Amino acid sequence: MAQIRTVGVLGCGLMGSGIAQVCVQAGYETVVREISDDVLQRGLGGIGKQLGRAVEKGKMGGEDRDAALGRLSGTTELSELASCDLIIEAVVEDLEVKNAMWRTLDEVCGANTIFASNTSSLTIADMAAATRRPERMVGLHFFNPVPVMKLVEVVKTIATDPRVFDTAFEFAKSLGKEPITCKDNSGFVVNLLLVPYMMDAIRALEQGVASIEDIDKGMRLGTGYPMGPFTLCDFVGNDTLDKIGDIMYGEYKEKRYASPPLLKRMVSMGYYGRKAGKGFYDYSQEPARPLELGI
Ligand code: CAA
Ligand code: NAD
Repeated sequence: MAQIRTVGVLGCGLMGSGIAQVCVQAGYETVVREISDDVLQRGLGGIGKQLGRAVEKGKMGGEDRDAALGRLSGTTELSELASCDLIIEAVVEDLEVKNAMWRTLDEVCGANTIFASNTSSLTIADMAAATRRPERMVGLHFFNPVPVMKLVEVVKTIATDPRVFDTAFEFAKSLGKEPITCKDNSGFVVNLLLVPYMMDAIRALEQGVASIEDIDKGMRLGTGYPMGPFTLCDFVGNDTLDKIGDIMYGEYKEKRYASPPLLKRMVSMGYYGRKAGKGFYDYSQEPARPLELGI
């Protein structure tokens, strides 16, 4: 089985930063690519803070933190990922944005580099087809927050080389994760079931079934979920959830995947959730206050 030593991560947002963090913690040399120096520095700074917190809590030694940070580097140039053994993509949920990067990387990377996408709802085949290495492309779908959530969905397309799949599966295990094998359908396993639930919660709110707080409380206390659906929407990012809804609805043509109008209006207003300071809740004060929707 191919040995992974160096990992490239595309994007250092919510997911890319978490993925880069677990890679350096597991001992991989990791280079993160962002679109601008500002965004890159913010992302790398966030990883430094997370590792700093782990040291403060006594979960990690200072030397281990320094060694992990020593394995982390950043760039704004895709060409600097040329010598990576594995590249994990975690940029916005947009096929064209992702494929533009894969086309460039296909030109500059060695023939053995494995390409992996962390997409929530696109199919891996739609990215693999944009490259001349479809057999070397898999899905590695992590969950938010990456350092905490144990699951990784490892996805094989109809073209994935089984040896490449096995390497990706073992890689996920080497990060301390629990991988599962998934077919290349939109939403894989978890989002196939989770996305309709989140969309249904928004539709229930639109219909006036109950308030944001009470729907959240109902699902937390009634089912033992760690977060209610609106806290979860804000956690995932309403902009990302809206894109996922459009993609899954496009694939299945079933209303349960479609983004409800309220979600679309929230995205128009920039209410992206926790990362924007405002979503279904306003995070500018503690405790966060549910948004007055006037409905
Ligand atoms: N990054 C890193 N670590 C974090 C974190 C973050 N954003 N948020 C919390 N943690 C850590 C805390 O530091 C804490 O660690 P220690 O135990 O070492 O102290 C631990 O997680 C527990 O945190 P808290 O005690 O503060 O809070 P909690 O017990 O409520 O747990 C949670 C927080 C793990 C996020 C929990 O609320 C949870 O599991 N929520 C559901 C998350 C979920 O469903 N994720 C999947 C989203 S869908 C997806 O990812 C797929 C997709 O394609 C959209
Ligand atoms: P995010 O908004 O936090 O980060 C998006 C990243 O994309 C940023 O690093 C941004 O700089 C970059 N980006 C934006 N436009 C770009 C462009 N034109 N070219 C290159 N990079 C660009 O989003 P996220 O939540 O980290 O999601 C990233 C991916 O991970 C998406 O495919 C999403 O579906 C998937 N995902 C998200 C979650 C979640 O809970 N948010 C969970 C699992 C998978």
